[in-house]
Amino acid sequence: MPNRVVFYLEGPPSGVDLLIDSVIISCSSLEQFKESKRFIDGDVNIILNPCFEDGVNNWSARGCKIFVHNSLGDGKITPLYGRFFASATDRKQSWNGIQQDICGKVKRKLAYEVTAVVRIFGNASANVCATLWVQSQNGREQYIGIASLRASDKEWVTLQGKFLLNGIASKAVIYLEGPPMGTDILVNSLVVKRAKKLLRSSSPDIEGLKGEMVHSRGIHDINIISNHDFSSGLLSWSLNSCDGYVVSGESSLYKGVTAVTGMNYAIITNRTEAWQGLEQDITSKISVGPTYSVSAYVRTCGGQNEPAPVIATLKLEYLDSPPSFVFVGRTLVSKEQWEKLEGSFFLESMPTRVVFFIEGPPPGKDLLIDSVKVFHSGLRHSPKMLYGVNIIDNSNLNQGLKGWSPLGSCTLSICDGAPYVLPAVARDSLSHHEPLSGRHIVATNRTEIWMGPSQTVTGKLKLHLTYQIAAWVRVGSGASGPQNVNVALGVDDQWVNGGQVQATNDRWNEVSGSFRIEKQPSKVIVYVQGPPPGVDLMVAGLHMFPVDRKARFELLKEKTDKVRKRDIVLKFRGKESSNVPGVSVKVTQVKNSFPFGSCINRSNIENEEFVDFFLRNFNWAVFGNELKWYAIEPEQGKYNYKDADEMLDFCKRHGIETRGHCIFWEVEDTIQPWVRSLNQNDLMIAIQNRLRGLLSRYKGKFRHYDVNNEMLHGSFYQDRLGKDIRAYMFREAHKMDPSATLFVNDYNVEDGCDSKSTPEMYVQQILDLQERGALVGGIGIQGHVSNPVGPIVCAALDKLEILGLPIWFTELDVVASNEHVRADDLEVMLREAYAHPSVEGIVLWGFWELFMCREGSHLVDAEGDINEAGQRYLALRKEWMSHADGHINTDGEFRFRGYQGTYNIEVTTPRKKSSQSFVVEKGETPLVLTINL
Ligand SMILES: *[C@@H]1O[C@H](CO)[C@@H](O)[C@H](O)[C@H]1NC(C)=O
Ligand SMILES: *[C@@H]1O[C@H](CO)[C@@H](O)[C@H](O)[C@H]1NC(C)=O
Ligand SMILES: *[C@@H]1O[C@H](CO)[C@@H](O)[C@H](O)[C@H]1NC(C)=O
Ligand SMILES: *[C@@H]1O[C@H](CO)[C@@H](O)[C@H](O)[C@H]1NC(C)=O
Repeated sequence: MPNRVVFYLEGPPSGVDLLIDSVIISCSSLEQFKESKRFIDGDVNIILNPCFEDGVNNWSARGCKIFVHNSLGDGKITPLYGRFFASATDRKQSWNGIQQDICGKVKRKLAYEVTAVVRIFGNASANVCATLWVQSQNGREQYIGIASLRASDKEWVTLQGKFLLNGIASKAVIYLEGPPMGTDILVNSLVVKRAKKLLRSSSPDIEGLKGEMVHSRGIHDINIISNHDFSSGLLSWSLNSCDGYVVSGESSLYKGVTAVTGMNYAIITNRTEAWQGLEQDITSKISVGPTYSVSAYVRTCGGQNEPAPVIATLKLEYLDSPPSFVFVGRTLVSKEQWEKLEGSFFLESMPTRVVFFIEGPPPGKDLLIDSVKVFHSGLRHSPKMLYGVNIIDNSNLNQGLKGWSPLGSCTLSICDGAPYVLPAVARDSLSHHEPLSGRHIVATNRTEIWMGPSQTVTGKLKLHLTYQIAAWVRVGSGASGPQNVNVALGVDDQWVNGGQVQATNDRWNEVSGSFRIEKQPSKVIVYVQGPPPGVDLMVAGLHMFPVDRKARFELLKEKTDKVRKRDIVLKFRGKESSNVPGVSVKVTQVKNSFPFGSCINRSNIENEEFVDFFLRNFNWAVFGNELKWYAIEPEQGKYNYKDADEMLDFCKRHGIETRGHCIFWEVEDTIQPWVRSLNQNDLMIAIQNRLRGLLSRYKGKFRHYDVNNEMLHGSFYQDRLGKDIRAYMFREAHKMDPSATLFVNDYNVEDGCDSKSTPEMYVQQILDLQERGALVGGIGIQGHVSNPVGPIVCAALDKLEILGLPIWFTELDVVASNEHVRADDLEVMLREAYAHPSVEGIVLWGFWELFMCREGSHLVDAEGDINEAGQRYLALRKEWMSHADGHINTDGEFRFRGYQGTYNIEVTTPRKKSSQSFVVEKGETPLVLTINL
């Protein structure tokens, strides 16, 4: 399905008018119409001839022979439903069976339910499986197991399962297979239809749970594992390439071993590989969103006597990619006693199939399992308990070097003379912590930049929580000036930045950052590194703790009320005013005039769905690339203003304000080759031409300009033309379009992770520009952030605030593959920005999948579905609209407090109902408005 389908009537030569009437498009045949209706209804079986009323028509054999019967085995086998059933016979392989092509009938991202009534013939019992074979558009084939069931020759059984295609399939065939050769598969009926609930974000389990994980009730009481205590033998369980049975009471083989709970436990035996064990398909019982906690009692027998690992794992099967395995939990067991295996997991997206495994001991050892539980970690395992709890051992160094070890061959020792309080940003979010001791770690004999103090934190980290990191750092006297110091995380041998600063020798420097894990790692260490070899590194008070984002939101709501709302007094005048007291008034905000913008691309404005969402939810725009110099003048003297003109026109038509991004871009890589190759003189002339060309053409049209993008990260123009060139660009831009506010625009200013672009450096840069006569009118924070922490963002805004300039988030996007986490990240950023008095506008760097510059940041997917992050954006926009209901008081007034923007007021007097609108401008003092009745 394309993004947009346009139907045209055209053709006569130009100059000839075209008259059109009565345009009808209908399905060309009744059959096709029915086909498409079936699709819409969803409740219709997509299998043709599902009960074999029409013989073997529409079915085919998969490596065997198929027949249709009304009875078999001297009349012993008759259909359960209807009059017929099919047999797949002469089967030579387990994958032989009966199949039907369902290509073109299944839509991606929708869940389908499969129900088959099956039986076997020729063997007492065997597994029958429903499988989907698909080929994706790029030719990749995949087999998706939909369901599997132990079938017998005694009775018909119902096989049930679900599947979901993430990608577009060019071929799809469903078939029933499984029993060993020689066994016939009998099929009475097969139904494949749209599942009642989408498997995706609205499966029954998580309905009403969105963003409310912690407060949900009820769900966390349900164990997702069926037959968890083996009271029904191995029902619902499957053995993964090994043997197993259930013991009731005491096993004759394992004397003295009894079940932990109930009577039974399972013994998994004849294991020849570590991964062999017990599995259960839990696809239909879990969903994206909640965290699940897992526990099981396990022990081993046989083989070598030393303790052996037992591991809980998930296998996630996807249509478009190979299966992935998620580590859930692990324990070491010996044969002396049952050990409790514990763990947790969280799904980032819904796979087509999820299988839970218990496995792990070396081959030869039997694995004993009892009482397996998988729960929503609802109230009982609330992460609230973890918030603000520092996971670094011996942070304050009261116990010497306990918990700390050198990374590499450096030497650690303890000295006095460090601060006694935590860095301020951490103090805000960490209400309870021990005071620091004044001691610090000194790392000496460093021979590599990565050497420094380290600590292993593997078991202490929880998935999807956002950890704030804070520490004091300093470099030894050997340093030749400020040095990069970085709190780093080694996550399974990958380096992750947890905060970075230019640290000096003369004082303690505060470093802060954030960190999050989205997949269970097998090892995580935190360490401090950065200065060149030979330079000593000092560290004090390193803290790392999960932040309670929701708790901060409460503070921000109060702050927002103070900053963004205004007292409004409506005075009623006019003919009716003498008898107004008591009359009822209803005030409804229809628009919030605070700038909320988005980046748009040229092609976006042709996508109706995009335009619809954009116009509903934004009042400002910035163009992705279309105004950039390289887009407008890719070759010297060859101009293309067309795209920008059309986009500007679109914005003007719809009352959307625009930011001009950007006149120049200081980072060399982004500059088109012809500009890069100019000599000094010609470069200066080209700059003047660019300024004149752009600013005269659009004079008075763009409300803002980003004059020279990313001057903290590049220096192309400055290196060639000297320091004044930057201020020159501002001075000239101002001369040519005095109505535009001129911005600096840079990234990584707000998150503490980049020592090249700290708020302090940004302030200094702006002061330098101002000193040279640049009229800097606004500070642009791009806001391409990851795992944002509110107090860190706020601290950066506070530091920038001292300049008294408006601050705008100009390119905000947050990246998290899990939509729920992304929604939280976005809420952190939007709330911090909207609550801060210096922030005067928020512009997102796009919202539509495939038109984002960072993957995993979209709010609306390519098909137009608003995801969790998009819903969160809409919910906040709704929260930031004021409404009031009441009666006019005896002074003829109605008072309320509301956000800036446009309001409707409805006044109902005994005689008439009237409605009008008014506007609330930004302001400090109460706004008094007269309403004429
Ligand atoms: C199903 O079988 C009938 C009877 O042979 C045939 O007319 C029809 O075209 C088949 N439909 C499809 C989609 O193969
Ligand atoms: C029945 O299946 C089992 C394997 O599940 C096999 O060992 C046995 O030979 C089969 N019996 C017959 C009669 O085919
Ligand atoms: C470590 O450095 C000190 C000087 O700072 C030096 O005296 C000592 O020998 C070094 N130790 C090692 C093991 O290199
Ligand atoms: C579209 O806009 C995004 C920002 O949302 C930008 O990163 C991207 O490069 C643009 N794509 C095109 C094709 O212009």
